[in-house]
Amino acid sequence: MFESIELPKLNDHIKSLHHFFEDNMESFLGYPCNGKFDYRPLYQFLDYPLNNVGDPFVSSNFTLNTHAVEREVINIFQNLTGADPKDTWGYCTNGGTEGNMYGLFLAREIYPKGIVYFSEETHYSVNKIIKCLNIDCVQVKATSKGEMDINHLNNLLIENKGRPAIMVCNVGTTMTGAIDDLDEIKKSLKRNGINQFYIHADAALSGMILPFVKNPQAWSFRSGVDSISVSGHKMIGSPIPCGIVLAKSKNIGHISQDVEYVGSKDTTIPGSRNAISPVFLWYQLKKLGFKGFQSMIKDCFDVSDFAIKMFKAYGFEAWRHNNSVTVVFKRPSHALIKKWQLAVKGETAHIITMPHVTKKKIVQFVKEIAEDKERQKAKKPAKKNHLRALKSVSSKQVSSL
Ligand SMILES: Cc1ncc(COP(=O)(O)O)c(C=O)c1O
Repeated sequence: MFESIELPKLNDHIKSLHHFFEDNMESFLGYPCNGKFDYRPLYQFLDYPLNNVGDPFVSSNFTLNTHAVEREVINIFQNLTGADPKDTWGYCTNGGTEGNMYGLFLAREIYPKGIVYFSEETHYSVNKIIKCLNIDCVQVKATSKGEMDINHLNNLLIENKGRPAIMVCNVGTTMTGAIDDLDEIKKSLKRNGINQFYIHADAALSGMILPFVKNPQAWSFRSGVDSISVSGHKMIGSPIPCGIVLAKSKNIGHISQDVEYVGSKDTTIPGSRNAISPVFLWYQLKKLGFKGFQSMIKDCFDVSDFAIKMFKAYGFEAWRHNNSVTVVFKRPSHALIKKWQLAVKGETAHIITMPHVTKKKIVQFVKEIAEDKERQKAKKPAKKNHLRALKSVSSKQVSSL
């Protein structure tokens, strides 16, 4: 049983929840979700029980859908990823995980005896998906900066010669934004005579960065991948988690089935599917256009570089990969991890300079790290005095960074 609450009290609860989110957005630096968007013109669509059940490219009896908009989003992504619209297919997912699931599901249906190769820096979703799909797998070592170790991959391919290879290629790892060397992966497959292979690109964040940079690493259909998963709520930004998966049309038949109940083809992982998030994605893509995203991403790099300079000005190490907005540095105190909602792994932490992250926030954040270090040092005597460095940075250098 549960009791109803009077409307004024219910509104108070809603207000306090809203304040909680407003406060927390002020210190949201560690995760790759763009918080800068305004979808108010779309709120009217929340008045309908919309549902994108079925294949977005096949008409359905359930017409309260946004399939037409979804197809436009897919078409934009086909362009961004060098996919030929005649040979590729896709749909809007609930996020990067579902797109990874889709890619690996297709791969397993094509190569039931295949082995999945993924690096130790691969997102945890992949390991879970492999368990769900019950596929054999081997984990490949990663370099200290997070890329797949190609020598180790080569050795593993030698050990498993004769079995099809299902490659998960990281296009921006979760912790350091590293991009696995797709050209070297393909060379390694060729060197070992492995002709039966499938390459899935996990491009959760960087899939919406690389199309807008001058010199992108190899990552897309242009470089021979078979499927790509991108998160929509990451660089595009959305209040509802979402994503896009693209795959080669010729492979979809491996999982597609006709469903009389909805009068459509069942080609997606879920049955009922979110019909609002494709409209958010479409709206933001159309509102900003290619040039808008290009300039937004350039601004993000600018803030990343500013953050690195700030860290260095205080005497701390910080770095980022080429074409990445993930700034990696040494894990700070637990209190700062909590306050700034930082992602951490072992001794490493990162911030991600998404479009809502300003230089002003970076100044505040790095200063707090320096102050915190200083407090810790005050407890045990040490060589350097960061507080002195702190004063000089704040007065002389910040404005010139
Ligand atoms: C590299 C990578 N892949 C996949 C995912 C999963 O994406 P989602 O949270 O959209 O399911 C993430 C999430 O952070 C990620 O960083």
